[in-house]
Amino acid sequence: MHSLKIHSAGKISVTDVPHGSMLLEVLRDRGYDVYSPCGGKGTCGKCKVYVKGDGYITSCLYPVKSAVEIVLPEPREATILASQYRYSRQMDPDPGMSAGLSRHPVGVAVDVGTTTLVFHFVSLPTGSVIETHTALNPQAKFGADVISRINYCISNPGGLSVLQASLINTINLQLTRFCRKSDRPAGDIVKICFCGNTTMLHILLGVNPASLAFVPFTPAFTGEKILKASELDLECNPEGELKVLPSLSAYVGADIVAGIASLAPDTAHRNSLFVDLGTNGEIALLTPDRIWCCSTAAGPAFEGANIDHGMGALEGAIKDYFEPGNFQTIGDSLPMGICGSGLVDLVASLLKTSVIRNDGYMEGNFIIVPAEKSGTSEDIHLTPKDVREIQLAKSAIASGIRILVKHAGLSMNEVDALYLAGGFGNYVRTESASEIGLLPYELAGKVIPVGNTSGTGALLSVKSIFFDKIVNELLNNMNFVELSDHEDFVLEFAMNMEFPYMR
Ligand code: FES
Repeated sequence: MHSLKIHSAGKISVTDVPHGSMLLEVLRDRGYDVYSPCGGKGTCGKCKVYVKGDGYITSCLYPVKSAVEIVLPEPREATILASQYRYSRQMDPDPGMSAGLSRHPVGVAVDVGTTTLVFHFVSLPTGSVIETHTALNPQAKFGADVISRINYCISNPGGLSVLQASLINTINLQLTRFCRKSDRPAGDIVKICFCGNTTMLHILLGVNPASLAFVPFTPAFTGEKILKASELDLECNPEGELKVLPSLSAYVGADIVAGIASLAPDTAHRNSLFVDLGTNGEIALLTPDRIWCCSTAAGPAFEGANIDHGMGALEGAIKDYFEPGNFQTIGDSLPMGICGSGLVDLVASLLKTSVIRNDGYMEGNFIIVPAEKSGTSEDIHLTPKDVREIQLAKSAIASGIRILVKHAGLSMNEVDALYLAGGFGNYVRTESASEIGLLPYELAGKVIPVGNTSGTGALLSVKSIFFDKIVNELLNNMNFVELSDHEDFVLEFAMNMEFPYMR
């Protein structure tokens, strides 16, 4: 017997389980509701739980062989997983020739995010996800956003090599960790597909990203790249296939292209928006005959940067704010600061109580948590300058959405759904996002969080060569709309600086 410690909905319980029991079954037997749409067959990859020391694992494929401590997803996270599954394209496994390089071939999907790397390890014969793991992008120490990474490459001789090596090193650590843990040779890893924004993919391949920072923002490459694993010194089968998925432009990367391709929108939705919220907001409008897309620089306010007591989505961050004294922190810890989803809630609440006016004016600082109740022994507050930063960020996103819809000759009422992707999109409460005008108030009730679609796109590319055809067809149908010189941009941006939820 082994001890199993379970963290769920803020409570901890401990139970004994027989050696080799499958974790999902154990959890079900003990009354825990784990989302498992394929019924535990190991094919949907949705029954993830967090195992301390091992990261996110597929619970129906995880035998308990020692004492384990796990964290079950929050109900909200489980709801997003359900939406993601419902709106994700389903494909049968057809991984291509590289699967013949091993008797037990494994593929790896890597979502190279600016902040976080996500790895899905996949059994190529069945297409089932063996394990999902995340790691911080080691380049974060060179700057939080893509522009600071590009600047590092421009201003430091050898800077590109430093960034590339740090990324390859982290990927190799994950590959060797997986092989050691699952007792497989590195030669079993025969296919790796990479998705990410255009800058991350340039750095991954050691291609100078400098041109992405200057007008006319021309990428050195946008098309799909296929290499041999040995060309990047990865710890896998040297004959294995490395695939970098294609991008559209400097600021509509493979993460967006493959993310949209990974969706199976509801057929009842004629026109739908796809919005990936991050330091850049990437927006696409899917209509029956074409796809319009744009990118807008929202800045890092929703990641907690530029905000006096802002912080990333880390332990102690206020992530939900309801009213004074009523909030929730990540990990139920003492409050240390406030992250993006908490900020959106907070501003929505302060607008309702007229602490913030619709034009953004706020008289003095608002104390969110007094010093005696905070984990920093200081007041955690929101300043008038913070409100201004939030206005700038949300106006950039809202303006991009409104211009794109207008550019396509539609009204907002003709948009049937808004699929919200990305980490911040996962956690922000959509009602609050509509109330502060980050998302159009006309679409309140039509917003569907779909999780990490970039990772799902990379995963589908590992599973099936037919996904790549879908991606290429989609690319041919995508039309980029440049916002910076768009005739409506200045006016829209000014109008959306207001908190227009009553407009
Ligand atoms: S329930 Fe589908 S993979 Fe585990």
